[in-house]
Amino acid sequence: MLRIIRQLLMVPEVALLARRTPRDPAVAWEGYWRGIRATGTQGEVLWDTDIGPEAEQYATSMQATMDFALPVLDVGCGNGRWTRWLAPRFPAAVGVDVAESAVQRARQEADGEHTISFRTLDLTRPGTGHMLHEEYGDMNVFVRGVFHVLRGPQREHLARNLHSVAGRHGRVLLTETNYRGSPLSYMQSLGATPGSIPLPLRKAIGGIPVPGRFGPEERRAAFPEAAWQMVADGPVTIQAVPMGGNATTGIPGYFATMKAR
Ligand SMILES: C[S@@+](CC[C@H](N)C(=O)[O-])C[C@H]1O[C@@H](n2cnc3c(N)ncnc32)[C@H](O)[C@@H]1O
Repeated sequence: MLRIIRQLLMVPEVALLARRTPRDPAVAWEGYWRGIRATGTQGEVLWDTDIGPEAEQYATSMQATMDFALPVLDVGCGNGRWTRWLAPRFPAAVGVDVAESAVQRARQEADGEHTISFRTLDLTRPGTGHMLHEEYGDMNVFVRGVFHVLRGPQREHLARNLHSVAGRHGRVLLTETNYRGSPLSYMQSLGATPGSIPLPLRKAIGGIPVPGRFGPEERRAAFPEAAWQMVADGPVTIQAVPMGGNATTGIPGYFATMKAR
């Protein structure tokens, strides 16, 4: 009961923050990344923490399913932390993001890593998957935390582009947050209390599209069985930056590896 009262007390502050978010998702993401001053575990980006045990499940699934002679595409790469994690395993790693400011930051953080490249691209735009396939041929695809921030039709557009990118030989590994409670209880689990919202969470609420959940049901809707074959899936814990107090750093998530039919 006390928990719910505390959630209700947070409503005015959350609503005020959320009103600042631009309606156009591409504009919102650009503004968000332009305003970020620090990344990493002590930084301002909610999902950008040191890569630890979360990666083990991905590495195991990749080992069992991916052809490491193909290049890899990191979709919605942000500041490129996971592109840098992927790069040593593949001949080339390409990070793409809708926000130019994210791409600039990713280039700075990957300074000197010559098998990595980044580009600004909205991968929900029809034809972008085909364009990448013309350039690179079949690619493996890694997606962390992108589908859950897209609305229904955008999810389908992105999945269609990934179908072109993967071709016959690439595999798609996606990993998404899948919190099943209300948005307010989600914020509470990440350390928000009435009158005090941790900065990384505050930046997300006031800057980026409201996240949804993405589990098996949402994956089936975006990746229809007629076009995709499931290789492996299961629960995963997505790591967030530490936000003090009782805040969790582990967000319930879902990962899946698929191949295009
Ligand atoms: C929650 S962040 C995850 C960043 C990164 N994958 C990670 O795990 O550190 C989502 C990222 O997807 C990017 N994004 C959102 N919509 C996109 C789109 N349509 N095309 C490409 N990138 C997109 C955002 O700019 C943002 O950097």
